[in-house]
Amino acid sequence: MSHLVDAVRIVKNLAQSTDVIADASRSHNVKVMLSMLGPAARGFLLQKGKGSHGADIRSPQTAHFVWDYTSDLPALNRLYEAAKRDQWNSTTALDWSTTVDPFDEDKELVSDAIMPLNEFRQIRTLDKEEKRRQKHGFVAWLLSQFLHGEQGALFAACQVTEAVPWIDGKLYGSTQVVDEGRHVEVFHRYLHEKLEKQYQINDNLYVIIDALMSDSRWDMKFLGMQIMIEGLALGAFQTIRQNSKEPLLKELLKYVITDEARHVHYGVVALGNYYKEVLDAHARKEREDWAYEVTVLLRNRFLAHELYDEYYGHLISRRRWNQIILGSAYMSFFRETMFKRIIPNLRKIGLLPARLHRHYEALGLMQYATNKDASELTAADLLDDRPLPRGAAS
Ligand SMILES: [Fe+2]
Ligand SMILES: [Fe+2]
Repeated sequence: MSHLVDAVRIVKNLAQSTDVIADASRSHNVKVMLSMLGPAARGFLLQKGKGSHGADIRSPQTAHFVWDYTSDLPALNRLYEAAKRDQWNSTTALDWSTTVDPFDEDKELVSDAIMPLNEFRQIRTLDKEEKRRQKHGFVAWLLSQFLHGEQGALFAACQVTEAVPWIDGKLYGSTQVVDEGRHVEVFHRYLHEKLEKQYQINDNLYVIIDALMSDSRWDMKFLGMQIMIEGLALGAFQTIRQNSKEPLLKELLKYVITDEARHVHYGVVALGNYYKEVLDAHARKEREDWAYEVTVLLRNRFLAHELYDEYYGHLISRRRWNQIILGSAYMSFFRETMFKRIIPNLRKIGLLPARLHRHYEALGLMQYATNKDASELTAADLLDDRPLPRGAAS
């Protein structure tokens, strides 16, 4: 029997891997497609992100020493000063004595409007208790993905700090390492002390993190983490904060968003400089295609399969679940909040060439190309409290 279960799991995971490879092949860039094979096999087939033992990802990495310590990139020097000034102590800045009741409607964790399954007929017939249980599960799932993403950001920040060519980048990077460590701490603490529930890493997130950790080129780690994943996280944090009434979660996200705004800004300044002044056209083209592929992965893959397995696996097929989620207001709202940050930053660093506009247009994402990029946005812009428009997901 257990062999049969294993066989079914392998076939299911294989189907997912081929989906990813098919996505990666859309760019017709063989190099990009091949670079996704290993991470997809490790994430989907071998399930390296699952289990309680941790996972090792081999990471070929060059540490670059500089012997001239004089300031070499003033924009990063200014960010370093801002980062030192704005450090906060997660133990004392947040009121951890706050009682969090995941089932308190007056202090709801998130509004119904951003629950993924609002259109799903079966959820409308669930009793109140079950709806609350699923909302608690959804928030714990989302924050668990933030937690795992923060661990990836912590390691990527360490590696990038070693590798960047500028001393100002290294000094700034040291503050980001501290920031990311603090983010791991606060998300883990909130999940364990307040929600008392944690999920494993989502396979799609694992594949993207594996792809950028196992790449030997520092700028690919930077592009994947600082521009793509952090840009996405910034949008997601903002969405949750604007649609939550739970004071500790809102405050925690306010601090994290302020840090993340600096991190994305760092990515835009450093990569803009590197891509425009150092890389040749051939190497830049590969980055353009890679960014497009990761965009496709991020757009299509926020599918919450862990929630499907927990609550709906016995009711509907995974294919039907994907259809419902992809067409849901939850997904379209998350897409908007995520990509309105990522796309202008790709433009700013020179990775949104005219030849790819129609592909981004087909994904419905070119509309964000003229938004402000990270160097033009302030933390205040990002903390702007605009709740989801009424009726957007009802
Ligand atoms: Fe972070
Ligand atoms: Fe970050």
